[in-house]
Amino acid sequence: MSTHPTPARTGDDHLPPPQRRQLLRAAATLGVAPWLLSACATAAGDAAAGTAPHRTQAAGARRRLGPLEVFPVGLGCQWRPGAAPGVVVDSYSSRFDRPAAIRLIRQAVDQGVTLIDTAEAYGPFLSEEIVGEALQGIRDQVVLETKFGFDIDPGTGARQSGGRNSRPEHIRQVVDAQLRRLRTDRIDVLIQHRVDPDVPIEDVAGTVRELIGAGKVRQFGLSEPGLQTVRRAHAVQPLAVIQNEYSMLWRGPEAQVLPLCEELGIGFVCWSPLGQGFLAGGVKADSRFAMAPDMDFRAISPRFAPEVLPANMALADLVQTWARRKNATPAQLSLAWLLAQRPWIVPIPGTTNAAHMTENLGAAAISFTAEELRQLNAAVAAIRIQGDRLPPAVAVMSGVEAAPKR
Ligand SMILES: NC(=O)c1ccc[n+]([C@@H]2O[C@H](COP(=O)([O-])OP(=O)(O)OC[C@H]3O[C@@H](n4cnc5c(N)ncnc54)[C@H](OP(=O)(O)O)[C@@H]3O)[C@@H](O)[C@H]2O)c1
Repeated sequence: MSTHPTPARTGDDHLPPPQRRQLLRAAATLGVAPWLLSACATAAGDAAAGTAPHRTQAAGARRRLGPLEVFPVGLGCQWRPGAAPGVVVDSYSSRFDRPAAIRLIRQAVDQGVTLIDTAEAYGPFLSEEIVGEALQGIRDQVVLETKFGFDIDPGTGARQSGGRNSRPEHIRQVVDAQLRRLRTDRIDVLIQHRVDPDVPIEDVAGTVRELIGAGKVRQFGLSEPGLQTVRRAHAVQPLAVIQNEYSMLWRGPEAQVLPLCEELGIGFVCWSPLGQGFLAGGVKADSRFAMAPDMDFRAISPRFAPEVLPANMALADLVQTWARRKNATPAQLSLAWLLAQRPWIVPIPGTTNAAHMTENLGAAAISFTAEELRQLNAAVAAIRIQGDRLPPAVAVMSGVEAAPKR
């Protein structure tokens, strides 16, 4: 049965209201299917997309991530210093500068975005510093999500042996440094960036629980975790969020992760919701990606290799066709597809371009009839993407189970 709660105020982590408990009790008594519970909860407090057959999928309202409530489309802030002085780059081929990044975040909040995602590792440190500066005076309007979990030297930002580190004393140090960089007194969602195979997740969750008790953190999340690790973590400190890659280009979460979120009442945040620009029309059959001076991550991603790109363009073509049909842009269509999958899914598209940011928010207004969604899902499922989604050294960190607690 779904245990997704009804919405609380933005950034709030209050207990579920009485209506929610009544709904859950009624659902348990009647043994209703999870989709019906979602649909009832939707009708009760949120016009977000229901999953009932024949129901028009309307994505415009606020969405729940566990006990939090956010605008349906967030903003990813993953930037690092470029090779040239003063330049800030993303993981692909876009670049801007720090003032432009700050303006972009402030415009996003002004236009209604409430979920801002970043991480210690993005830069390292630079993205959190930019977010902290941008949110001065508007901090209370957003749900601020950041991540720990890599072994990063706090002084130099150098990756220590490239590994992960979720040891409790390290988490505490990282969070104190994050609060300083983000210029805030609390992190709304603290996410373990990748599971540390050497540290029991009970110890990680227990540490986050202590940080919540101290008022430094409000909610807990995991990124790309193993399924048993999710259950073990959730038993110690309930998770508000799982953040995994999910888009029409990578549908891996559909098999097991989304059902687990449904079961446990955990919200789902999609990273790379535009397939790293591919679904937005930014990649062509003959696109090639730079290794220098600023590396484009797609240069080392098997699914963007020259041998497979021509075949994979079938998906980009499908998105174009449906975007025309829905009078939307390819980026909007791709984000709206994610929103239509479950009412507790929130994509966090990344961009360096203010016009793209505004365009992406328009996805929240696009809805599908049940028949349209059936057709589109079937067409997406019929396309087999060639090439792995990640280089092996990165892929190996996904779906990891934490060390057992002895
Ligand atoms: N948890 C994790 O491990 C993890 C991993 C990766 C990312 N993330 C998070 O997820 C966020 C988003 O992922 P992502 O940046 O990797 O991929 P993405 O959002 O799928 O794609 C970003 C790319 O799409 C382009 N784009 C955005 N909007 C567009 C539009 N309307 N039209 C045309 N192009 C558009 C951007 O270029 P422009 O700059 O030109 O718009 C950029 O090249 C990140 O910022 C980060 O916060 C988390």
